[in-house]
Amino acid sequence: MESTFAIIKPDAVERNLIGKILERAESSGFEVVAMKRARLTTEVAEGFYYVHKERPFFKDLTTFMASGPVVLLVLQAENAIKKWRDLMGATNPKDAAEGTLRKDFALDIERNSVHGSDSAENAAFEISYFFSQTEIVR
Ligand code: CMP
Repeated sequence: MESTFAIIKPDAVERNLIGKILERAESSGFEVVAMKRARLTTEVAEGFYYVHKERPFFKDLTTFMASGPVVLLVLQAENAIKKWRDLMGATNPKDAAEGTLRKDFALDIERNSVHGSDSAENAAFEISYFFSQTEIVR
């Protein structure tokens, strides 16, 4: 079993899509082993996305992620990292395949509804950035 880190982003929380996204996760075989609602500060968002700090979109991205409540998740499944990225679809919803979360819910490349770790190394960092061991119940 593998764990990945996911975020239901402000654009999706604002549109009351938490339940629909969790339903898609669970019906696709993920177990929600940790979950909390949070309002990120810009500083917390900057720390989370530090790998992108040189990118031109960094300021917009971190401002957006601090613009409203999010839901933070640890999802467990076989091959959870790839499986969640497949379910999310391409970063830009214009490129996302039919049946993916971003095809169905994302508004644009920034307001793209969900985040998921892109590697085992980043999943470990991202999970520990937001959750303590006692908050993860496997
Ligand atoms: P996410 O998977 O959370 O990881 C980094 C985020 O940066 C990405 O989703 C996008 O929402 C956001 N982003 C904004 N603009 C761009 C861009 N031009 N290219 C890639 N990612 C972008």
